[in-house]
Amino acid sequence: MSERKKSVMVVDGDAEVREPLAKALQREYHVLRAATGEVALQLMVKEDVELMVLDTHLTGISGIELLKITKENYPYVEVVVVSATRDIDVAIEAMRCGAYHYLSKASDIDQVRTLIGHASERQDLNRHVMRLRAEVSEQVDREFVVGTSRSTREVVELVRKVAPLPATVLILGESGTGKEVLARLIHRESGAGDSPFVAVNLAAIPNDLVESMLFGHEKGAFTGATRQQLGKFELATGGTLFLDEVGDLRYELQAKLLRAIQEGEIERVGGSRPIKTDFRLIAATNTDLAKAVKAGTFREDLFYRLNVIPIQLPALRDRIEDVPELASFFLRRFNVKFRRNIQGIADSTLRILAAHWWPGNIRELENLIERLVAISDKDWITDEDLPIEFHVAQLSATEPAVEHLLDSAVSTFERNFIVRALEKEGWNVTATARSLGVPLSTMKFKMDRLDIRALARVRRGS
Ligand SMILES: Nc1ncnc2c1ncn2[C@@H]1O[C@H](COP(=O)(O)OP(=O)(O)OP(=O)(O)O)[C@@H](O)[C@H]1O
Ligand SMILES: [Mg+2]
Repeated sequence: MSERKKSVMVVDGDAEVREPLAKALQREYHVLRAATGEVALQLMVKEDVELMVLDTHLTGISGIELLKITKENYPYVEVVVVSATRDIDVAIEAMRCGAYHYLSKASDIDQVRTLIGHASERQDLNRHVMRLRAEVSEQVDREFVVGTSRSTREVVELVRKVAPLPATVLILGESGTGKEVLARLIHRESGAGDSPFVAVNLAAIPNDLVESMLFGHEKGAFTGATRQQLGKFELATGGTLFLDEVGDLRYELQAKLLRAIQEGEIERVGGSRPIKTDFRLIAATNTDLAKAVKAGTFREDLFYRLNVIPIQLPALRDRIEDVPELASFFLRRFNVKFRRNIQGIADSTLRILAAHWWPGNIRELENLIERLVAISDKDWITDEDLPIEFHVAQLSATEPAVEHLLDSAVSTFERNFIVRALEKEGWNVTATARSLGVPLSTMKFKMDRLDIRALARVRRGS
C-alpha cells in the first residue's frame, strides 16, 4: 500500500464528539473536520476526501442526505455512519444508500478507527478491481472475433499470409463490417506489435484540415498555424497508417498521397524540404472505388497503387453463422461494462437473430447487445427482450417440422431471397417485382404467404 496518508473527514455537529475522534484518527490519516453537511460538501469540492465518518443528526441537510449526495458524486468515498440513537430504520437507510457500516454512538472510538481501516481496505480493493476491469475491456476492444463461417476464416487466413509483407492492403466492406478491427489485426500480425498504429478517418475530417492533418505543417504555414505540427504520415513512421474511407479523399490530395506512398516522401504544408516516411499502408472504403474511377472522382493510378491486396469483408447477413460467437463476445464485453452477469442468449433468440437482415452489420449487432445488456434484469436474454422489428421476422426462424422440411427450406430460401431484393429496392414493392421479373400481384401474394408484410411495414417505418 502507498505511504501517502489517506484523507478522512469527520462530520459531526458536536465538537465534543468530533474532536477526540479527529485526534484519534490523525496519526494514520489526513483529517478534515466539518460541523455541518454544507461545510462537508464545500470541503469535498476542494479537497480529495476518501473516507468519512458521518453523524446522522446534523443541522441543515441531514446526515442521510449528505451520504446520498456523497455516494452519487464521489462513489469511491467509503462512509462509516454513526448515530446517537439505535434507530433501525436509519441504519437500514444508511446501508441502502451505500454506507460502509453503521454504528450507534455508544460504541467507542477504537471501533470507529477499526471500521475506517476496513473501509479503507475495501476502497483499495475496489480501485484494484476497477483497474483490472479497465484493462480487461481494453483487451477485449482489440480482439478480432473469428466465427465459424467459412468466409471469415478465409479472411483471417489471408491476413496471416499477407500481414508480414510490406504490401499495401485495401479493405473493402459495408459500414460496420469490421474494417478497422481487421486493420488492427493485420498490424498485430505483422509483428510490428509495439510500433504505432495510426488511424485516420478521412470522412470525419473537415476538408480544409485533411492536408495538414496528413502531411503536417510548419509554423506560420497558414493563419492559426502557431506551431509546427507533425502529420499522421510522420507519426506512423515505423508502424501502420490506416486510412479509413479513402474514397472520400479530395481529388487534389490523391496525387500527394500517391507520391507519399510511391516515393516514401512527404512535404509538410508550408515546408520546403521533403521528409522521408516509412510505414505500412492499410486503406479501407465502403464505396466502390472502381466505379469512382470511372466517374472521374478517384485517380486511377492511386486506385491501382492501393488495390495491391484487396480483402473483402463480407456483410454479416452473408456470414450469419458468426452471429452466436459475436453475440456472446459482445455479451461478455457489456457484462463487464455494465457490471451484469447475464449468462447467455437463448437458442430460440439466436435463431431470430440469424434471420435478421443486419443492414448495420456487426456494429448493429454490437449496439443491440449493448442495449439488451443495459436494460435486462434477467439471467438470460430471451425472445421477448428483442425489439419489435425482430419479432415480425420470426416466422422463418422457427424450427421447421421434419415432415415439411423441404417445403420449409424452400420457403425460407424464397423468403430471404425476396427480403434481400426488397432491401435493395428500398422496400418499394413495385420496383422489386419488376427487378425479380414477376407480376406485382404474384409479388404481393408471396409477401402475404411468406409473412413479409409486417416486416415491410417495420422497415418502411410505418
Ligand atoms: N470480428 C470482430 N470481432 C469483434 N468485434 C468486431 C468485429 N468486427 C467488427 N467488430 C466491432 O464492430 C464495430 C464496427 O467495426 P469497425 O469500426 O471496424 O467497422 P467498419 O467497417 O470500420 O465500419 P465503418 O465503415 O462504419 O467505419 C466495432 O465496434 C468493432 O469493435
Ligand atoms: Mg471504419
